[in-house]
Amino acid sequence: MSGPGQTLLERRLVIVTGKGGTGKSSVVATLALAGAQHGLRVAVVEVGLEEQIPGLFDPAAPPVGYPGREIHPGVTALRIDPYAALAEYLGLQIGVRGVVDLVFRNRAFRQLMDATPGWRELITLGKVWHLEQMRRDDGSPTYDLVLVDAPATGHGLTFLDVPRVAVSAVRMGPLRRHSGWVEEMIRDTQRTLLLPVALAEELPARETAELVERVREETGVAIDRVVVNAVAPAPFPSGLDDLDRHLAALPAETPLPGLPGPPVLAACAAHMRARHELNRHHLAEIARDTGLPLLVLPQLPEGVRNVADLARLAGPLLAAPEARAA
Ligand SMILES: Nc1ncnc2c1ncn2[C@@H]1O[C@H](COP(=O)(O)OP(=O)(O)OP(=O)(O)O)[C@@H](O)[C@H]1O
Ligand SMILES: [Mg+2]
Repeated sequence: MSGPGQTLLERRLVIVTGKGGTGKSSVVATLALAGAQHGLRVAVVEVGLEEQIPGLFDPAAPPVGYPGREIHPGVTALRIDPYAALAEYLGLQIGVRGVVDLVFRNRAFRQLMDATPGWRELITLGKVWHLEQMRRDDGSPTYDLVLVDAPATGHGLTFLDVPRVAVSAVRMGPLRRHSGWVEEMIRDTQRTLLLPVALAEELPARETAELVERVREETGVAIDRVVVNAVAPAPFPSGLDDLDRHLAALPAETPLPGLPGPPVLAACAAHMRARHELNRHHLAEIARDTGLPLLVLPQLPEGVRNVADLARLAGPLLAAPEARAA
């Protein structure tokens, strides 16, 4: 069975995407930790120039680079460098770093590659496919779960669309064959899930709805829930839902030892209520515009810094997603 009834750990490949700064790396790291705690062997793939995930497991961790390293028991992280992946694909064996430097520093070659659209995405997804296909001596997968921290939305869809374009543009040969394998993996709704990460704010909410629509129209990739990250908890203790109004109703001169007067407190409380209501409005909007159930992750007061913070996000991330009435 696939769909929102399945937990995120029941796929082979989860591609996490979203606008910059929404919490993609935090979500990938949380899933990796949760997967390892459930006994899965997890591969975490970062795409791009920066490594953000190893530092969440160990702030003193040296870079994992390519081909990566175990950063936590059961979690292997790597950063895909397209040139290194290309060298590997082409079977250049003389020590990948050396080859990358020797062959790819050649100016004419670089210019040719830089002018060729799509090869980075294709080679990156080819490496992801390879990780998913890797087997141990006993035939079991080397990695039970492969997590991809995909480039921010916009590029996110190009990233997924390149294999399809390659399959339709190239008629035969190994490139056609390999693009076909990658394309098959991405569209396999049992194996692969695209997981968008949004914030309950105007722009990320709108962009997420557009992403989901385009994924549905332009690709066959499974998408069955949206993560809405960093949602502030209800501002007042339960039973005190009208705290701001109670404060506003107090006479302005009421003495409150050690505190500013009721009008100041009432203004702070009204601000907290307004922010909470705006969050709820955008949550409902994301649910309505995407038609998908939501996984709501709490805002952690100190941000996401370490394994303890990831552990706090794991429960809500693995929960059954909520369908929200608009
Ligand atoms: N649930 C949360 N509560 C509080 N802070 C959070 C939460 N999730 C993420 N953050 C903080 O928000 C910032 C962005 O998070 P993160 O790096 O995971 O986002 P990203 O989408 O990977 O960003 P980028 O697009 O730059 O790669 C970080 O400082 C992180 O600590
Ligand atoms: Mg990131």
